[in-house]
Amino acid sequence: MSKKQNQQKNDWDRSGLPGWTYHSEALFDLEAEELFRRRWQFVCHVNELSKIGSFKTIDRVNERGFVIRDQTGKIRAFHNLCMHRGSRVIGEPEGTCKRAIFCPYHGWSYNFDGTVRGIPNRDTFGDVDFSQMSLKPLDMEIWHGLIFVRFKGSDQKSVSEILARFHDETSLYKIDQMVPVEGSEWLDVLDANWKSVRDVDNEGYHVPQAHPALFDLYGQNYEDEPYVEGTSRSIGTFNVKPSKKWSVRSYRKILEKNNWLKLPKLQSCSWVYMGMFPNFVLGFYPDCVIYYYEYPLSANKTIQQGGVLRHKKETRANRLARYLSGRIDRDTAKEDQMLVVWSSEAVKSSAFSGICLSDLESGVKTYHDHLRELLPVVTMQEEPKEKPLSQVNSSLLK
Ligand code: FES
Ligand SMILES: [Fe+2]
Repeated sequence: MSKKQNQQKNDWDRSGLPGWTYHSEALFDLEAEELFRRRWQFVCHVNELSKIGSFKTIDRVNERGFVIRDQTGKIRAFHNLCMHRGSRVIGEPEGTCKRAIFCPYHGWSYNFDGTVRGIPNRDTFGDVDFSQMSLKPLDMEIWHGLIFVRFKGSDQKSVSEILARFHDETSLYKIDQMVPVEGSEWLDVLDANWKSVRDVDNEGYHVPQAHPALFDLYGQNYEDEPYVEGTSRSIGTFNVKPSKKWSVRSYRKILEKNNWLKLPKLQSCSWVYMGMFPNFVLGFYPDCVIYYYEYPLSANKTIQQGGVLRHKKETRANRLARYLSGRIDRDTAKEDQMLVVWSSEAVKSSAFSGICLSDLESGVKTYHDHLRELLPVVTMQEEPKEKPLSQVNSSLLK
């Protein structure tokens, strides 16, 4: 929301979520179920699965899954759980299965369509019907080349319905034809609640103080739109003033001379971010597309992960621009992670008495509104102890 839009309106709750919601293990269980099992989770780009048998795994809150390209070229998604004794059938994060999927425990094998292929000592299993023991499929959807899965059914809309308002703008970047940048995938473990990661990411008020390079790039023209129906959009249009840092200056100079995708004027000199509730963000740059997401391991431990997609045929100038944007992003991520940990620590301090949001942080508020609607228990000032938290939440939902 722009400063101007907000000047007329000064009547909203600036206090954020209560502190207990950032360290309650009972709430973590509820969030795991409602947000991370029942909502779409990003896995990878289709072009990461380049061959028949190529796979990529995904772990979320005690759920394990994988996507794989089958013999016909189709991409399929399954729970990563052997029907014999529950081992992971795929132990590596990514790779290619040769002829079949072999479970590392006792060697049951499965076809790429999930059906059972071979059972060592099959005659020792009595009259078990192995045709009923295929791997369990996951909900899967591909949007502009990006693969999403969902571990449990829910009333959540399809990815294309949720992201419908971004379809045209996303099409400009042709991300379905992009390829992952080798070695660009990163993963960090943070001693913080996952919502602190979102809170920092959902506002740009901190950019001038916390992100010198980003500020130098687009600090004077950054706008966060509020979170609406599960999606958010922010845009940073490059400053009119010349940049002070050489890396930012060089980056802008390359982009002034090149427009590889023939982007419209606005996008050719902007970074555009699009978010999907609860935890996925795409960053569209003139030189590449980035993605990142976070998910909890516990109430106080979070994994943050991301990577970069590039155009298949990249010129030297494009590669250099991507190197420079990556430099800005690496600095920004480090700066943000420190803020995430400090915010998460704060709620446990005896001096913590809540937060106070500015109009420029309305993205945090509108994201919290999504949480409050889905998990009304987070509106309680104290953690409910007399009954199980999930039960309190269900009664509030009614
Ligand atoms: S658990 Fe997979 S073969 Fe035994
Ligand atoms: Fe930031």
